[in-house]
Amino acid sequence: MTTQQTDLGNADLLGDEAVADPYPLLAALREHDPVHWSAKYRSWFVTRYDDVAAALRDERFSSDRITPYRRAKLDGPDADPGVRAAFGVLEGWMVFKDQPDHKRLRRLLSRAFTPRAVTRMTATVEDIAAELLDGIVGRGTGDVDLIGDYAYPLTASVIADMLGVPREDREQFKDWSDQITGLVFGGMGDATRHAVGAEGMADLTAYLADLVRAHERDPADDLISAMISARDDRDALSHDEVIATGVLLLFAGHETTTNLIGSGLLALLAHPAQRRLLDARPDLVAGAVEEALRFDGPAKTVARVMGDDVELRGRRLRRGERVFLCPSSANRDPEVFDAPDTFDVTRERSGQLGFGLGMHFCLGAPLARLEASIAIPRALARLPELRLTDEPLSWHPVLLSRGMQRFPARFTAP
Ligand code: HEM
Repeated sequence: MTTQQTDLGNADLLGDEAVADPYPLLAALREHDPVHWSAKYRSWFVTRYDDVAAALRDERFSSDRITPYRRAKLDGPDADPGVRAAFGVLEGWMVFKDQPDHKRLRRLLSRAFTPRAVTRMTATVEDIAAELLDGIVGRGTGDVDLIGDYAYPLTASVIADMLGVPREDREQFKDWSDQITGLVFGGMGDATRHAVGAEGMADLTAYLADLVRAHERDPADDLISAMISARDDRDALSHDEVIATGVLLLFAGHETTTNLIGSGLLALLAHPAQRRLLDARPDLVAGAVEEALRFDGPAKTVARVMGDDVELRGRRLRRGERVFLCPSSANRDPEVFDAPDTFDVTRERSGQLGFGLGMHFCLGAPLARLEASIAIPRALARLPELRLTDEPLSWHPVLLSRGMQRFPARFTAP
């Protein structure tokens, strides 16, 4: 075994250095140990583009990692009933389903969450971005947290608006959503995080249940009503499925997109020539968003559990073992991308895997692209001489997603 491989035996994506910048470690794994067993996480990490892409399309890499966990940990008499109920909601999410249940949910939701429904959000996204930027400029301090003051409230408001959540309930909605982050991104097994997450989930589902009932009585022109009436010749979403899917959309809809707006702005502030290029050529904005997804996208890993034994690059992945597929690494694979560590908004071919691939390909990708392609250039245009500060950036110490806790920046106050 080479020194590199020995060192990689302790590879830890949650080590301080790797949380701040996972790319050197991912590059080493990709090169020397592309199907890596981590004793610490008792999981595989798959880092090459071809392997990640193939696994995302391979149903032996099961998406249902909730049911086995529930059976092992939550079906016993000592399990906390609140945590069990919270995992029950997660179990209803299409992203955690295999076929045929996944196909049915996706087919029905696709009837409500349509490209037209997304395009209709354009003016709303523009208005919300403008309102938030006015507020930031109006404070007159020149300091901004681009996550907390801008990206987060923007994406939360957009998805809440799309779903049909009244404006006055937004703050509450956001708190519950924050609480359930620990359940979804936190990994299994942290009791405190689970208890907090379970409380947030109980409050949020109770709130959504009322909202769904109100929409059942009195339909509106929004996504909740569209989900209630989404049906085909075979069936429709049940009341509980509308609630669980509402929680999924709320959650999936803002956490990740916040991170994309943050990392897109960060890449542009850190690469002034690219920023100037985008200023001069607004037609490059779609490419810039794609490049932000590739270069430092929100999906650090995508989790699977082996539904069968699979042989991969001489390693045997056994049924029941957990696997982290790493789009963050695939997107920097030099076999696929020229100069992969260079941020280049004019990159022609993307093929980035930041939205996944195959049957679970991100349903919200058009909305995320719309939000980022408005939010990023608007912030650069409205906040004069926006620039980084000396304050070190703090990143969420989680395996699944890549995002900043805060993003302090400065602009020249009016
Ligand atoms: C930049 C922002 C986003 C990123 C990076 C992202 C990333 C992803 C990824 C990687 C998957 C695949 C997960 C897997 O294979 O296990 C996924 C699935 C999904 N995303 Fe997104 N997402 C984003 C925004 C959104 C938005 C705005 C919504 C909706 C409002 C959304 C809704 C969904 C849904 C419903 C799924 C499950 C699809 C399925 O299982 O068929 N996402 N997302």
